[in-house]
Amino acid sequence: MANFPVINMEKLNGEGRAATMEQIRDACENWGFFEILNHGIPHDFMDTVERLTKEHYKKCMEQRFKELVATKALEGLQAEVTDMDWESTFHLRHLPQSNISEVPDLSDEYRKVMKEFALKLEKLAEELLDLLCENLGLEKGYLKKAFHGTKGPTFGTKVANYPPCPTPDKIKGLRAHTDAGGIILLLQDPQVSGLQLLKDGEWVDVPPLRHSIVINLGDQLEVITNGKYKSVEHRVIAQTDGAHMSIASFYNPGSDAVIYPAPALLEKAAEDEKKNVYPKFVFEDYMTLYAGLKFQAKEPRFEAMKARETTAPIATA
Ligand SMILES: [Fe+2]
Repeated sequence: MANFPVINMEKLNGEGRAATMEQIRDACENWGFFEILNHGIPHDFMDTVERLTKEHYKKCMEQRFKELVATKALEGLQAEVTDMDWESTFHLRHLPQSNISEVPDLSDEYRKVMKEFALKLEKLAEELLDLLCENLGLEKGYLKKAFHGTKGPTFGTKVANYPPCPTPDKIKGLRAHTDAGGIILLLQDPQVSGLQLLKDGEWVDVPPLRHSIVINLGDQLEVITNGKYKSVEHRVIAQTDGAHMSIASFYNPGSDAVIYPAPALLEKAAEDEKKNVYPKFVFEDYMTLYAGLKFQAKEPRFEAMKARETTAPIATA
């Protein structure tokens, strides 16, 4: 099997541009995941994000997680648990409106750093979307516009810690799923691995790499590209020794954005394959459906949206 794609973004400037764009194209078409280096976010800043996240976990989350494990009797599991994950998380929202000032327990420094981190990631997400547009033959800004709706994109961060787990074969850090949204940017622990993606029927480790950002594509990009790019199933395996930190930021469509396959990509696809066209829907409706079906295959979600499209068509935006 080919190696997990690790792409040096520095090479986008200058002679290596065509080869780098090709690496991105290949990763999008064949992996749905890739890891980028030299993405423009300063390394010392990433170290600060990591340090503050770990400090916050120790100070405010660890004890709560231990209590949860005790309450739910997750310590010496004999049978597999399929309705829970071995993770400790909290969420931040950045767009359309930040909620960082209202999230409890965060230090002032952590709030400030996460706000700044979100701004940097938002910029990076939009740059990446434009690289995808270029590879897809879509006009610059097409994907950003497709995500815009009336209030701009939804952008948020899930901060997760996967504490050491005595029985990782009985409970997943995070059960397998595809991400519902647009493009996901992940800062993961540089020491402890745990994230895996499903490639050709096998679980492949996403290698921990200092100062990298892991990128993956969500269901909405699969719809907009009419399946040229696909969201890929992934999961987290908790480790028996060592905690795994994961800070995932989701650059998603606005709640009222209408999502549908880009007409330019449909025209390029075989004209007579109109029957294999992904659905058109309001993003919020997809998220409502996803909330109950996150850990199930994505295809029934697309089919359900397709069925709804027939009964309640959406006017073209
Ligand atoms: Fe995910």
